Amino acid sequence: MAQGFFNAFNDVWMLDGVRTPMVDYCGALGHISPTDLGIKAAREALKRNGMSGADIESVITGNMAPGDFDQFFLPRHIGLYAGVPQQVPAVMAQRICGTGFELFRQAGEQIEAGACDTALVVGTESMTRNPIAAFDHRTGFKLGAPVGFKDYMWEALKDPAAGINMIQTAENLAKQYGITREEVDQFAAESFAKAVAAQESGFLAGEIVPVISEKFELEGYQTRGIKLQGKLTEVATDTHPRLSPVEVLAKLRPVYEGGVQTGGNSSALVDAAAACIVTSGRYAKANGKQPLARVVAAAAVGVPPEIMGIGPAAAIRLLLERSGLQLDDIGRFEINEAQGAQTLAVGRELGMDLSRLNVNGGAIALGHPLACTGVRLTITLARELKRSGLRYGISSACIGGGQGIALLIENPDATA
Ligand SMILES: CC(C)(COP(=O)(O)OP(=O)(O)OC[C@H]1O[C@@H](n2cnc3c(N)ncnc32)[C@H](O)[C@@H]1OP(=O)(O)O)[C@@H](O)C(=O)NCCC(=O)NCCS
Repeated sequence: MAQGFFNAFNDVWMLDGVRTPMVDYCGALGHISPTDLGIKAAREALKRNGMSGADIESVITGNMAPGDFDQFFLPRHIGLYAGVPQQVPAVMAQRICGTGFELFRQAGEQIEAGACDTALVVGTESMTRNPIAAFDHRTGFKLGAPVGFKDYMWEALKDPAAGINMIQTAENLAKQYGITREEVDQFAAESFAKAVAAQESGFLAGEIVPVISEKFELEGYQTRGIKLQGKLTEVATDTHPRLSPVEVLAKLRPVYEGGVQTGGNSSALVDAAAACIVTSGRYAKANGKQPLARVVAAAAVGVPPEIMGIGPAAAIRLLLERSGLQLDDIGRFEINEAQGAQTLAVGRELGMDLSRLNVNGGAIALGHPLACTGVRLTITLARELKRSGLRYGISSACIGGGQGIALLIENPDATA
């Protein structure tokens, strides 16, 4: 029996979801706080489902890096400025790169327990606005003492328990599973090609709300909002995908001498937010909502920190075992491409048919905005199941520190 944490849900549904474009860090969204990106996505998710904030009974948000001085208030402010009534509580969850999935898991638990019928889930991240921070200067600067300011993002990608950073955990997996640089570059080139194709077909545009300059008003309180810089009037597309043939990727310098991971075959650093509405079946039926998917089950597990990237294999194994399904029953997988070798190791460990994996491109091509990722992947997965008529899909991610999380969803209109 696989070990870990498992939830089965009988009557939990996800309605339509939406996200901002995912924009390379230090780009056009880099000056916008994660709260405002989250408000933007939340307002649009409500609109696309013909709902208002007044229909929401629980707000569940995720954000990893503090992106502004008001980050403590992020869940509350996303709820309030999305129009959710003051009486409705808001919470922040964090499971690092698994945060977005955790939001669905918690929404499922709340709804299944009868605590609420509707939840607004919002994952938001500004990788750009990771602060340059110091923790030891409140009492002043002693003469000659080292100044403690460091790049929060760079430091946060290191696990001090294992004494290694996330790229090194992928290098460990490459060695363990005999994965070569050529294989990782090939996988990355395909991720880029699939993402470009999904952009060109318009599939990705269907889940994106363009970011524009706008005010978020809340009666009786301060107005906040988004102001694009310069002459920009709209940011409507993901910026990282570009055709990246193997020959081009092969020329990039590895992050570590002799290693397989490069800037071209690791997840891109991007800014984005994604939002979705999760409801009980009773609510969806009574209010004439057409759900995108049923949220069937969730699993979260622990794995060794030094090979944290294998987390999805353990989580998916537990999810399948406890749900009574086989790998072959799953029509589509969305597994976060934190690093190319990491995703290939998961595929190898599970014996997965990679043609079902990340068919619209993955984080190598599109980017990985930490807390947003799980919401984004699950929305993409649900839309892809609808498009293909397939029944079951699994979205999953590895998690720094050594965890994995996975969600099982079902297309109610499956034809295959
Ligand atoms: C891998 C990583 C360290 C690279 O960071 P970086 O060095 O700033 O990366 P860059 O984007 O500058 O890419 C490095 C080089 O490759 C080039 N490159 C990247 N992708 C490319 C592509 N698709 N095609 C062609 N060139 C590409 C860049 O232009 C750059 O070239 P330059 O050095 O001549 O400027 C960083 O992206 C990373 O840590 N990613 C993983 C994040 C992560 O682990 N998240 C958490 C998961 S648990």
